[in-house]
Amino acid sequence: MTASAPFAPDALLAAFDDRVGGVPTHLSRAPGRVNLIGEHTDYNDLPVFPMALQRDVRIALRPRDDSLVVLHNTAEDFPSVEFEIEPDIPPYVQGAWGNYVKAPASELARRFAIWRGFEGVLQSDVPVASGLSSSSAVVNAVGLALAHINEVGSEPRSFAEVMADAEQYVGTRGGGMDQAISLGARNRHAAKITFSPLRLRHVNVPDDWCFVVADTGKRAEKSKAAMAAYNLRRKECEEALREVAGHVATVNISEKLHTSYPELVAAMDTGTLLEAAEDVLTGNLLRRFRHVVSEAARVEEAVDRMYAADVTGFGALMDASHASLRTDFHVSSSELDEVVAVAREGGAAGARLTGAGFGGCVVALADRWTVGSVLETLVAEYYERRQMVDRIDDRLFVAVPSSGASFQELG
Ligand code: GLA
Repeated sequence: MTASAPFAPDALLAAFDDRVGGVPTHLSRAPGRVNLIGEHTDYNDLPVFPMALQRDVRIALRPRDDSLVVLHNTAEDFPSVEFEIEPDIPPYVQGAWGNYVKAPASELARRFAIWRGFEGVLQSDVPVASGLSSSSAVVNAVGLALAHINEVGSEPRSFAEVMADAEQYVGTRGGGMDQAISLGARNRHAAKITFSPLRLRHVNVPDDWCFVVADTGKRAEKSKAAMAAYNLRRKECEEALREVAGHVATVNISEKLHTSYPELVAAMDTGTLLEAAEDVLTGNLLRRFRHVVSEAARVEEAVDRMYAADVTGFGALMDASHASLRTDFHVSSSELDEVVAVAREGGAAGARLTGAGFGGCVVALADRWTVGSVLETLVAEYYERRQMVDRIDDRLFVAVPSSGASFQELG
């Protein structure tokens, strides 16, 4: 129940031979991620603190001499995609996985006039629609492949910004966390990521710490109802910012006019900022603002707690994050709340929903002495009760902080 079994490359090679014919020349891979803390802050230009997972998307491929992309998926639910590279490629219907393949092709064609396609087979062991960023892993793996075969630079930081723009193609107005961590992560490290400009500060995850990932089994489809709810949150955050920034400027709480969340957060302490917000915001807008600002402060604190190897302190911040996501940001669900409670009952130092919410996974912090009990309690109190013990290794595992995406020639 710990790390998932690594891919058998043989299976991928066999699938390539079967679907494409012959042998692939390159392998492009990009991992999923688990966000430790800092949820719904990235699109507000405030920090996040994720790490890359040992689970990834791998594409075995062979470049073509024309602009066709042909990509098969070893998972039966995902039909093969085939399209010509061009700027502004017409998308498939909303929700089709092929849009995550078209997204980087379209963006790279628009920006760099790439033309060369490939044929390949994709295999992934990142759970789908679980808040672990399986879709950004596809975008990154395809993007990296196209960048390499078209000789476009792919330095992780600037490429992550290109891939974040690319993913807007699917209709979710996501932030830049998923692409940045999947491309830029370091083995055994989490990264505090700040935006505009994008920066990654790598923080060593203490050897004793175990981040348990537990899937509720309720899918959080980024492309369906959750997409509208997600985009609405982003709009509300923008509206709340405009109101508070205007108010702060009018009553001269601060000497400067602040137009972004980072500026407001830097200009005054959280207490003063929330008091100013209460002057002009009510209801959901006030709740959204309170979550975003308090979550940013928790990220800063969490980085310090990890440096200090303070498992209790880090856990308390995760609990506070979950409470804020539930009561102020309204993105939790009964299943997420239940898995959080069961993990805590099993001895976790803290637990919270991870990713956008509305379903998907919980991340819980344990150490090497408590991890066994956390896993056992989750199996007994959640998965067995719901008869969800099949494929348990996909639903419940300990995250291994892993390195970012790579592209390699196969010898
Ligand atoms: C999704 C988005 C990210 C981020 C999280 C919430 O995973 O892709 O950019 O906004 O939700 O923190």
